[in-house]
Amino acid sequence: MHLLVSNTETNEDSIPFSEKSKQSNTMANLVDITYETPAEVEEILKPFRLSNENLKEISKRLLKAMEEGLRNKTVGSDHPSIRPSVKMLSSHLKERPNGTENGGFLALDMGGTKLRAYYVEVMNGKIKLEPKSKEWTIPQELKNESGTQLFDYIVKNLGAFVETLKLEGNPKLPLGFSFSFPCDHKSLYKCFLTKWTKGFKCSGVERKDVAKLLREAIGRKGGLNIHPIVMVNDVVATMMSCEDENCQIGMIIGTGTNACYMEEMKNVGTEDGEEGQLCINTEWGGFGDDDSLKDFLTEFDKNLDNESDNPGEHIVEKMISGKYLGEIVWRVLLELKEKKLLFEGSVSDNLRKKDTFETRFISEIEDEKNGLENADKILSDLDLKVNSTDPSLVKMVCDTISSRSARLCAAALVTIANRIRTNRGLPHLKITVGMDGTVYKKHPNFSEKLKEALRTLSPECDINIKVVDDASGKGAALVAAVAQRLCGQQG
Ligand code: BGC
Repeated sequence: MHLLVSNTETNEDSIPFSEKSKQSNTMANLVDITYETPAEVEEILKPFRLSNENLKEISKRLLKAMEEGLRNKTVGSDHPSIRPSVKMLSSHLKERPNGTENGGFLALDMGGTKLRAYYVEVMNGKIKLEPKSKEWTIPQELKNESGTQLFDYIVKNLGAFVETLKLEGNPKLPLGFSFSFPCDHKSLYKCFLTKWTKGFKCSGVERKDVAKLLREAIGRKGGLNIHPIVMVNDVVATMMSCEDENCQIGMIIGTGTNACYMEEMKNVGTEDGEEGQLCINTEWGGFGDDDSLKDFLTEFDKNLDNESDNPGEHIVEKMISGKYLGEIVWRVLLELKEKKLLFEGSVSDNLRKKDTFETRFISEIEDEKNGLENADKILSDLDLKVNSTDPSLVKMVCDTISSRSARLCAAALVTIANRIRTNRGLPHLKITVGMDGTVYKKHPNFSEKLKEALRTLSPECDINIKVVDDASGKGAALVAAVAQRLCGQQG
């Protein structure tokens, strides 16, 4: 027998169960219990609920970590005691297109799960037409192979793409490479991977110049006339691709998470020069690696981290991004099953496997109209014993975990927007964020959850979010175009 507590008894400041009162109760056989939470369930979910006060505290700590990263000159160092948790990497990009960039550019976007190639025509600093593109899913096995195999795979696909475009006769084609991993950029053309994230383990790539590895693979294949290779992080590419003059922040909430923004040069201790601004790739996914989020981590987060490929690293990313959200829900479901609050206390062989509960299920289960039916189907397909209230309980778990993710992202955005506001000595700031990533784009109400938190947390900033499709590819081509202009200017 479950003890029930009414949600009105919970802290007013804590996250509302966004769907609780809206869900229809009329669906055949499925009972919605989200309007009152069983007490034992509440016990388990409570640590995931971050109040506005918690978020303000997290924002304060993030700002401190960002300031440490900006001051720190040990970027790229492997020693955890001297490596800042939020690395604040220079992108070497000080400007956006100025309207004089023209030409055809290749772009590559290597994310956590997909590889995409683009051909982008730029006219007067803007993308002329929707780019031509092709996409491949990066084979899981490849993530554990050697760097040579990885880069040969990339170039094989790039070569096939170039062939279909009939571009072989062209003079040298410049290429923008959006590489969605933390890199220490020495210039726009030279960038060293500091550490793999998102489950990649390819040997011989960490601490190597990624542009050089790609160039060598192009050389091994032969017949491709590509030069120069301009390197950019995906979040920087996302900001660049956002055609809004107020866009000074880029954010990604996908397989991984990251944010970039325009910082005043005078505040960047890691770079020479005082004038103007520089786009800083925060690598905020590493926030918490110095234990600064210790008091906000649940037992589930700690276990996930301990059993991950990179324990102790990218702590906040593991609370937020698509690579991990499904696993957090899975861990909570197993605990609820253990306490006999779900699936009649039994488990199926399917649910025993770690990667069974995919992040996309969270979106399907939180669908406003068909969520409970989707949950029923997903759980039944996993061979679980599903009773009439289980789908609703699982939906509540998904809502709690995705709300925490959205609210943490809101705290990060508010921190960055306020940083820009105080840098400029403004009482109020109107700013646009270029946004990309499957979690933000595909989840039915993630964007609403995030925006709701933004409104509460940041009365001094008017933050407008603009989603850009194919942001990484378009942005990488634009960065290559800006690099070409700057090169021409140098003569
Ligand atoms: C990487 C970032 C990247 C982000 C989003 C993180 O795991 O460290 O470099 O921008 O994922 O793709």
